[in-house]
Amino acid sequence: MSDRPIGIFDSGVGGLTVARAIRDQLPRESLLYVGDTAHSPYGPKPLADVRRFALEVLDDLVEQDVKMLVIACNTASSAMLRDARERYSVPVIEVIQPAVRTAVSVTRNHRVGVIATEGTILSRAYDDAFAAAPHLELFSRACPEFVDHVEAGDTTSRELVALAEHYLRPLVESGIDTLVLGCTHYPFLKGAISYVVGDGVQLVSSDTETANDVYRTLVQSGIERTSPGRPVYRYEATGTSAAEFLRLAEQFLGPEVSSVELVETGTIPIAPKSPTTRSTP
Ligand code: DGL
Repeated sequence: MSDRPIGIFDSGVGGLTVARAIRDQLPRESLLYVGDTAHSPYGPKPLADVRRFALEVLDDLVEQDVKMLVIACNTASSAMLRDARERYSVPVIEVIQPAVRTAVSVTRNHRVGVIATEGTILSRAYDDAFAAAPHLELFSRACPEFVDHVEAGDTTSRELVALAEHYLRPLVESGIDTLVLGCTHYPFLKGAISYVVGDGVQLVSSDTETANDVYRTLVQSGIERTSPGRPVYRYEATGTSAAEFLRLAEQFLGPEVSSVELVETGTIPIAPKSPTTRSTP
């Protein structure tokens, strides 16, 4: 039993898809979410840089006494999962394995597409994760500009739908029946993605299955929160604008995100600047 928060992190707002699934399954747990907006997007950056940025954020989360780390970012997981598991004594959960497990159980024709950032695709993390299912044929595609649309709050523009056509048409033509959203930003684009790929392709995202892993690990380790008091949700951003992160988090997660603190990483102890708070009408 532990009242300590679960630490969740992504380069930006994408990991909120995972945070939401964790809140749905574990409504008593306190969460501390960090969006590393100072270094976002991770996708186009060299994996060595992503590794360094991500470890700085995770170091700070551990310093803030989280009881578990959730790497809610495929690119960061591709760059540093092994390092993280060696470096920290708290359990480390990530998003690639859960997505792969789901895809393996969902596909019927064994042709699976994976879309992700350039960093994730180049790392071949999904190829490695699918290696245990050699009967599957994998079709991978980097969709670098999707993250920019999400971080701009755009899920419906004509440019976005045209971009989705451009990225996804070749995958549909290769006969996939399952498409893994291998970036935690992409579930926010499910409307555009399913509009383009149609009903014949099942979309798989890692949020719910990752939350299952969090649940399982908490209960097995006996560190779930059992006290009935209200949980505490904190959201932090490393970039220059907490207001911008708050606006996006509200748009995607709902008005319960009431404030975002601006923090610096790599400067333990973290000195939160004044929180940006949503003005209530
Ligand atoms: N949401 C992240 C992922 O799952 C990365 C997006 C980015 O910063 O490029 O890969």
